[in-house]
Amino acid sequence: MSLVVTNIGELFTGDDELGTLHHAAFVVDGGRVAWVGAAAQAPAADERLDADGRAVLPGFVDSHAHLVFAGDRAAEFAARMNGEPYTGGGIRTTVAATRAASDDDLGAAARRLVAEMRRQGTTTVEVKSGYGLTVADEVRALRIARDLTDETTFLGAHVVPAEYADRPDDYVDLVAGPMLDAVAPYARWVDVFCERGAFDGEQTRQILTAGLKAGLGVRVHANQLTAGPGVRLAVELGAASADHCTHLSDADVDALAGSSTVATLLPGAEFSTRSPYPDARRLLDAGVTVALATDCNPGSSYTSSMPFCIALAVREMRMTPAEAVRAATVGGARALRRDDIGVLRPGARADAVVLDAPSHLHLAYRPGVPLISTVLHDGVPQ
Ligand code: NIG
Ligand code: FE
Repeated sequence: MSLVVTNIGELFTGDDELGTLHHAAFVVDGGRVAWVGAAAQAPAADERLDADGRAVLPGFVDSHAHLVFAGDRAAEFAARMNGEPYTGGGIRTTVAATRAASDDDLGAAARRLVAEMRRQGTTTVEVKSGYGLTVADEVRALRIARDLTDETTFLGAHVVPAEYADRPDDYVDLVAGPMLDAVAPYARWVDVFCERGAFDGEQTRQILTAGLKAGLGVRVHANQLTAGPGVRLAVELGAASADHCTHLSDADVDALAGSSTVATLLPGAEFSTRSPYPDARRLLDAGVTVALATDCNPGSSYTSSMPFCIALAVREMRMTPAEAVRAATVGGARALRRDDIGVLRPGARADAVVLDAPSHLHLAYRPGVPLISTVLHDGVPQ
């Protein structure tokens, strides 16, 4: 069954050659984009979706989310808005709640979040473990994640769990050894929270190197709360992405600029922890590829909304609306080393968003307004 989406006022393709088209159309066949061009030249198809002059973009690629957890930390958020700092210490609260939850409850909660994301235009999401922190609980989290997405990430090194508090190196050995072996069939990526109070440079290197050996790709929670070795390690180990990138030295920026590691910025975290935003302009001007993602999690960023992150990036991080939309689509795809998503060009997956607005500018111009009118996933209107 083929479908032509036509009468598109502004088609933001994300493809360097196609660029942004006006009065455009695209054709979907077998879940893939088959043709892109001027509406007047569109070939016939079995079905027709009239965009009525509205804007169409690739579906958002949310390349950083923690969706398998139980409970929330609303009281911690309220305390922060009252002046308490964010330290990551609350992760253990969510670990306790997650361990106590049933498989069914964890799966249902994660599915609800994915559905919430989909309604806001996200068509690909990466999902991390990291609130189990035992072999069995990390396997469980990744099995649940695997039912939701192919982009699954093992984050056993999220924080040292309470039972290992006085022997953190034993926990690192567990993560890099038996835990990694047990989760590897369910994970595409390995990630470490490289931060003071979580895992230092040597521990991070041990875990990521073991992950690489097990055939996983690497991503790093890097330089979120303090300047540390995370970004340079990410680049050295060929990570697909260094995430957060809030506290960067010039050497960090240079390392990213000379690499294929994407800087994934997570402004929902700075919003919800009332922290200074990362300097996206500095990264873009240095030639670094930037992605935007939600970091959806119950502690530092309980938003599932890519449009909200786009609005924050434009208002607070000196990104243009076009740069922010690129970062939320093709940037996210690069952070996942994918070239079949985040763009609308022949051969790509037909994942697209029809906005209830005439241009992509409205995503930042009308913050908080539900502008997602139709989402196409694999060519099927949802
Ligand atoms: O990316 N920083 C580490 N992990 C998450 C927060 C997790 C939590 O506070 O529960 C993040 O911000
Ligand atoms: Fe995160």
